[in-house]
Amino acid sequence: MKKVLVTGASGFIGSTLIDRLLEIGEYDVYAGIRKTSNKRYLQDNRIKFIELNYTDTNVLKQQLDENNFAFIFHLAGITKAKHKEDFDKINFLYTKHLVDCLNNTDTKLVYMSSFAAHGPASEKPFMPAKVTDKNTPNTYYGKSKLKSEQYIQDNFNGKYIILRPTGVYGTRETDYFVYFQTLNNHIDVSLGMTPQRLTFIYSKDLVDVCILAAESEKTNKIYFVSDGNLYLDKDFAKITKNVLNTWTISIRFPLFIVKGIAYFLDFLGNVLGKQFTLNKDKYNILAARNWDCDITELKDDLKFQQKYDLEKGVKEAIAWYKQEKWLK
Ligand SMILES: NC(=O)c1ccc[n+]([C@@H]2O[C@H](COP(=O)([O-])OP(=O)(O)OC[C@H]3O[C@@H](n4cnc5c(N)ncnc54)[C@H](OP(=O)(O)O)[C@@H]3O)[C@@H](O)[C@H]2O)c1
Repeated sequence: MKKVLVTGASGFIGSTLIDRLLEIGEYDVYAGIRKTSNKRYLQDNRIKFIELNYTDTNVLKQQLDENNFAFIFHLAGITKAKHKEDFDKINFLYTKHLVDCLNNTDTKLVYMSSFAAHGPASEKPFMPAKVTDKNTPNTYYGKSKLKSEQYIQDNFNGKYIILRPTGVYGTRETDYFVYFQTLNNHIDVSLGMTPQRLTFIYSKDLVDVCILAAESEKTNKIYFVSDGNLYLDKDFAKITKNVLNTWTISIRFPLFIVKGIAYFLDFLGNVLGKQFTLNKDKYNILAARNWDCDITELKDDLKFQQKYDLEKGVKEAIAWYKQEKWLK
């Protein structure tokens, strides 16, 4: 059995990866959590737990050396923050410490970056984002992911794969869920007067990519991850409404109004020490019209074959939300 560690194991993607690793049955699975982590999705008694000390590299190195993991899937991170400095601290600094401690070991690192590290794809003309493009992240989150990627590329003496998933949805997910909930409440909100080009990856397909990346002979490469299809925002709404078998009232907001609200909520969030779903970073993501990416290399190198397109994934996710009574 290969000894493997998933950091961010209590999260949406981390817990899905843990499930898949256990299902395959060839891995001795360690879940990297913290004292406060919720273990509701980590109930299988084969899971071993480890609380990594990301701030003290002496302790962290000892924890990693003692275990000599074959693979580390580094997923721990934040996508939203009360203070923008937290992105740098958690997404970059913790990754830097992990990488420093893994230098010159045999452990292969799979780092969960994000499409956000690249920033939106070209709109003039519309082109899918490629790894060879110049990166222009337009959020604090994306900048912290890019900084981590660059640190790994420039300083890590070891084997790694960096994954840049696009929007990840699936069972246990809480952000797209808000959109599903809104449609279920008969309101279809769209933002901007021109169509938004979107890409998606279902969580179960993404965790398969993580395992393919770890097991592959390929190393020291970056891959975008999506299901390979391009969708318009209206397709996403249509598919979801069909699955929910519901009707909606459509409301379209011009981007300048969304921007005004986002900036106000950002200000209010800073004053109250609170995080609103809509903020400046989120506005920059919503305002960009092209989130298309090229996954040719992912398919060629890692032999990735997606099992889910948007319709199949949304069906499964919504069935789960209903079963868990998140949706009526
Ligand atoms: N969801 C997406 O659409 C998407 C897209 C691209 C990339 N990603 C990346 O995928 C990774 C996982 O995302 P997710 O959607 O699964 O997020 P999530 O559900 O919020 O899970 C985040 C995980 O990171 C852990 N974490 C957060 N702050 C931490 C800290 N200070 N110290 C140690 N652990 C900490 C959390 O632990 P606690 O449970 O203890 O808080 C949790 O296990 C992230 O790196 C994210 O950037 C996500």
